[in-house]
Amino acid sequence: MEKKYGNFTIIVKEDYDNASAVAADVITKFVKTNPAGVLGLATGSTPEGTYSKLAEANHAGKVDFSNITTFNLDEYHPISKTNDQSYDYFMRQKLFNHININPSNVHLPNGEADPHAECVAYEAKIEDAGGICLQLLGIGANGHIGFNEPDTHFPKKTHYCALDKSTIIANSRFFESADDVPKNALTMGIGTIFNAKEILLVVTGEGKADIIDKALFGKIDPQVPASILQLHPKVTLVMDKAAAAKISPKL
Ligand code: F6R
Repeated sequence: MEKKYGNFTIIVKEDYDNASAVAADVITKFVKTNPAGVLGLATGSTPEGTYSKLAEANHAGKVDFSNITTFNLDEYHPISKTNDQSYDYFMRQKLFNHININPSNVHLPNGEADPHAECVAYEAKIEDAGGICLQLLGIGANGHIGFNEPDTHFPKKTHYCALDKSTIIANSRFFESADDVPKNALTMGIGTIFNAKEILLVVTGEGKADIIDKALFGKIDPQVPASILQLHPKVTLVMDKAAAAKISPKL
């Protein structure tokens, strides 16, 4: 199913694999038309399928990343790049080691740097690159995008933040225990994300059905950070049927 809802193009596919294929197609098309474009990337379970399909397309010679620049949304702090739980490590394992991207065009916030100086420097690097053209996003079960957690306001720029308790618990699945999850992170702000010309939001699994319903049909509220996307001029929302269960009847 593909439908327009406001500025959203909503695509619902049968399952995770098919949703990942659509997300990879959106990125592939973008790279073909903007071979020197700036891509914003995300970590987490959701984009893994998208990344493996992009790697396949690159191996098959269908897409060329050699002139693409990337900026990831976020990184834990403090964490070293060699830590296998760092987002730097994740991105190399899941995508960068498998595509023909130039490593000097790849950017993630540095989890080892002074956090405040790093946020200013990261935001400046994005600006210097001309801003993000296409930003890939997942959504947390609490509505976060990047690590912009539910709050009383929408943070504008890249900033140093504390992770929500629910995020620490959700992300503990990758660590030995919740105690091992870093308590802080560096993240693009809502303003940084919102400035992307186009957003590709991928939402899969029944655990996300309630929050995507709230984000799309609820009020625009910093307690549901993704709700700000209702105001963005160009969002492609790709879901599997399980994630779309609550919103499908409303479309
Ligand atoms: C990751 C990120 C997060 C995730 C979100 C969903 O870089 O910024 O906002 O997109 O936590 O994570 P998964 O996909 O693991 O459910």
